[in-house]
Amino acid sequence: MSAPDRPDPELLDRLVAAARAARERAYAPYSRFAVGAAVLAGGRVYPGVNVENASYPQGICAERAAVAAAVTAGERSIDAVAVVGSSEDVTPPCGGCRQVLHEFGPLMLVVAESPGGARAEWTLSELLPAAFGPRSLA
Ligand code: THU
Repeated sequence: MSAPDRPDPELLDRLVAAARAARERAYAPYSRFAVGAAVLAGGRVYPGVNVENASYPQGICAERAAVAAAVTAGERSIDAVAVVGSSEDVTPPCGGCRQVLHEFGPLMLVVAESPGGARAEWTLSELLPAAFGPRSLA
């Protein structure tokens, strides 16, 4: 499998901006750690936010909400994901989200931006080497 083309800088900025805007709509009354994410799939941007719950383990991460929105729209291949969290430093996707993202784009670009604008980038394969994925079931 070959890596998706790197999205051009304007599109990447738009993806990060969508994650940042979504973050304003996060539902995080328990952790108070609002996260916005956006995935790029089929040339479209699908945002998501963390949605917490009074039954704490039922909360979902922003990345997973964004993946669900893209898949609901019919997408099956994700080229990039942007994440904006609430700490001073960038928020990389949690381990569970790395696994969920891997299903739809093992070589996708992962961009994390802090509220203040510091940016970090990885490929998903850097964040989740030797991953278990669809092919592992063959
Ligand atoms: N969270 C995300 O939405 N994405 C991550 O990758 C890290 C953690 C959320 C889960 C929870 O609602 C809050 O941040 C604190 O962990």
